[in-house]
Amino acid sequence: MTNEAIPDLMAFDDAGLDEAFGGLERRARVEATFISNVADVEKFRLEWLGRKQGRLNEVSSRWLKAAPPEAKKALGLRFNALKEFVEGLLDAALGGGPSDSALKAEAIDITLPGSRRLTGAEHPITRTMNEIVAVFAALGYSVGVGPEVETDFYNFESMNFPHGHPARDTQDTLVVAGQERRPVRDRLLLRTHTSPVQMRTMELVPPPVRIVIPGKVHRNDAADATHSPIFHQVEGLCVDHNIAFSDLKGTLDHAMKALFGSAVKTRFFPSFFPFTEPSADVQISCIFCGGKGCRKCKQSGWIELLGCGMVDPAVFAFAAEKQPAYDARQISGFAFGMGVERIAMMKYGISEIGQFFAGDMRFLGQFA
Ligand code: DAH
Repeated sequence: MTNEAIPDLMAFDDAGLDEAFGGLERRARVEATFISNVADVEKFRLEWLGRKQGRLNEVSSRWLKAAPPEAKKALGLRFNALKEFVEGLLDAALGGGPSDSALKAEAIDITLPGSRRLTGAEHPITRTMNEIVAVFAALGYSVGVGPEVETDFYNFESMNFPHGHPARDTQDTLVVAGQERRPVRDRLLLRTHTSPVQMRTMELVPPPVRIVIPGKVHRNDAADATHSPIFHQVEGLCVDHNIAFSDLKGTLDHAMKALFGSAVKTRFFPSFFPFTEPSADVQISCIFCGGKGCRKCKQSGWIELLGCGMVDPAVFAFAAEKQPAYDARQISGFAFGMGVERIAMMKYGISEIGQFFAGDMRFLGQFA
């Protein structure tokens, strides 16, 4: 590349201008083909666009200033076109990237770090509920659900809680207002347990049945560290010929080992539920001290975890009104119900049940 001087311009008519600017354009294009490294780029830039000695500067001072007034506009247009052409060659030499002004015009600054997308995670209650359900699904149980707003009939009557029976008082119930004109059995309430779905299931399908029912329940309980007016249960029901208490024991012993580890032991204590006879409370050996006795198990070595029992014939009698195959002389079954929060609190070492429902990301984020 040689820095030849810009000749004086002789003719200011269109043909003269075309020839003069065309010549410069060709020269710039040829010179650009010799650019092979960064130093060449800078040299090309200085030669053409340099503020003091650049050719365009020279064109401007020699041609533009010398032009008669009537030729100035045509000359200016050509000058700008040449400048853009040279800048284009420079951009191309720089790797074809966009010019500074083109970058500014873009609203997105591609050099900023990306914005992180929060994908979310399962709530610890959902996760625990799914874990429990998975244990029984692996035993061949299907999964069912039922309504949270339930009738008195399904929540209580069909589960063998007669009207006025003191067992109803153990489940302090939230009722839907303005139901007084309806028959008691049709009055709506917030279900206090998932047990009514046992009846809904049996009315729909004849035996044999093996089903688990996860869901939300409500009780008018004052909130404290271990009580919440909203909580969750997983209900279980198994009905077939010759189902015995030993089947119940084996099933729940397996489930507790699957949930808490194979070292866990279970024991069954006599209890009472209107819908099972006999009824039992299941205790597991304390997972914190291994059964030696600690503060968590009140030094007993055992922790009470769920209720269960053999389905009461009175419950089968209600089911038989829709499905006669639920004949207590022909079939038998067991049921169980467990509190999900209680299990989650033990599994994850949580001491306040309210944490599950407070929506505090510092708490929930630990399960992501
Ligand atoms: N429904 C009972 C409750 O909420 C729990 C329960 C106990 C369910 C024994 C059962 C059962 O199916 O057999 O307290």
